[in-house]
This record gives sequence, C-alpha cells and structure tokens, in this order.
Amino acid sequence: MRAPVVTIAVDGPSGSGKSSVSRAVATRLGLAYLDTGAMYRAATLWCVRSGVALDDAGAVATAVVAMPLEMGVDPAAPTVCLDGDDVAEAIRTTEVSSVVSQVATNLDVRAELRRRQRAVIEAEATGGFSGGRGVVAEGRDITTVVAPDADARVLLTASEEARLRRRSLEVHGAADADAVEATKDQVLRRDRDDATVSQFLVAADGVATVDSSDLDLDQTVEAVLAVVAHVTA
Ligand code: DC
Repeated sequence: MRAPVVTIAVDGPSGSGKSSVSRAVATRLGLAYLDTGAMYRAATLWCVRSGVALDDAGAVATAVVAMPLEMGVDPAAPTVCLDGDDVAEAIRTTEVSSVVSQVATNLDVRAELRRRQRAVIEAEATGGFSGGRGVVAEGRDITTVVAPDADARVLLTASEEARLRRRSLEVHGAADADAVEATKDQVLRRDRDDATVSQFLVAADGVATVDSSDLDLDQTVEAVLAVVAHVTA
C-alpha cells in the first residue's frame, strides 16, 4: 500500500533548533525538507549582488520575482543554488544575516516566496525528491500562512538563554559570555523585526508547541515525531 502524503510545518524563532530538527524529522520519515529561511537569505544575497538598494521596496520585489533560485530538498544534503552558484555558505554570513529582515519584511517579496514555497510543497505531494511522500517545511509563517492545512503543525520554542547559546555556538563556535553577548543584539533584533510580519512567537490555534530549552536534538526530534504520529494516526 502506498504511504500517505504528509506535509509537516515547523515554525520558530532563531536558535530554536528548527533547521536541525526539521531535517532529522524529514530523514526519519523519508520526506523532503524545505528551508524557507534560506530562500529569504538567498533573496537578500541576490539583491546585494545585483546592486539593488534594500530600502527600495519596489526594486527589491522586482529583483526577487526574477531571481533564478533552485532549492535542493534532500534533507541529507539540502542545497541553495542561485543563478547556478552554490550559495549555501554565502547566505549565512553576517553580511546577509544583518540585513535579511529588511527583505523578509517586504510584503511583495513574501508573496513571491510563499508562491514558490507552496509550489515545492505541491510538487512533493505528487512526486519530486520524496516521490510523493511529502515534505517538512520550516520557517516563520509555514504553520499559519504557507501551509495552514498541513497534516502536522509545530511551533518550536526555546528560552532566550538556550536560543542565544545555540546561535552563538553556531556562529562563533563558542558559547562563553563574550560570544553570547556578540550574538545577542543580532538575534533578538532580527526576531523583533521579523515578528512584525509573522506571528511565530505564540502558537496559532491547532498548532502544537514543542519547547526544546531542556531537550537535546534527539529528544526534540522524538517530541516532534510524537506530534506527527498523534495528528496523522
Ligand atoms: O531561519 P533563518 O534565520 O534562516 O531566516 C532568515 C530570515 O528570513 C529571518 O529574518 C526570518 C525570515 N523568514 C521569514 O520571514 N519567513 C520564513 N518563512 C522564514 C524565514
């Protein structure tokens, strides 16, 4: 018998662990993995490389509509390809991280990227990488706007302390007081700015909350899988 198609939506703030958790859940269930934050980051890099001023909302939206972006959705090796160029590392630099909110709060950009995200979700429901098994899509507005009808919807949260420690380890390779302080301003400011266009700090109706503050990666993956098993049973 053919396995049912599953769409899993995961939202959460920076440092909640949603990328690692979503990738692991996708791997466990044989699903594709879509990192929508990487799409906003790629859009930002595209504008910077094209010489578009980020405060010119119209020019940014026009550039993003024409952006030649290909997202690789294998959870074992997700790729981000911009105009034939692998930009997986370039989109994680401070240069991009410090200005990505400016692009992500542009409503025309959001409409375009949401359209592309829904296209990937639909493609995975019938074929694509997963062969029609489905996808885990993660971001800030997946549970509420991009895929409100997803089979399982999870808001992954963590205390501010846990989020800053994780981001600091990721960016600086350390989580001592100085490294955490250096991360703090950027992470908190970005979440504040992003929260003006997407509500990802509080779970919407019907969205399960998983708090990862005191869980390691495996425990968080199990907690998300338990939500999936519960709602798809
Ligand atoms: O998850 P991340 O840090 O890679 O996200 C990058 C940026 O994109 C961040 O500013 C939040 C924004 N974003 C968004 O607005 N909507 C999404 N679905 C995903 C990310």
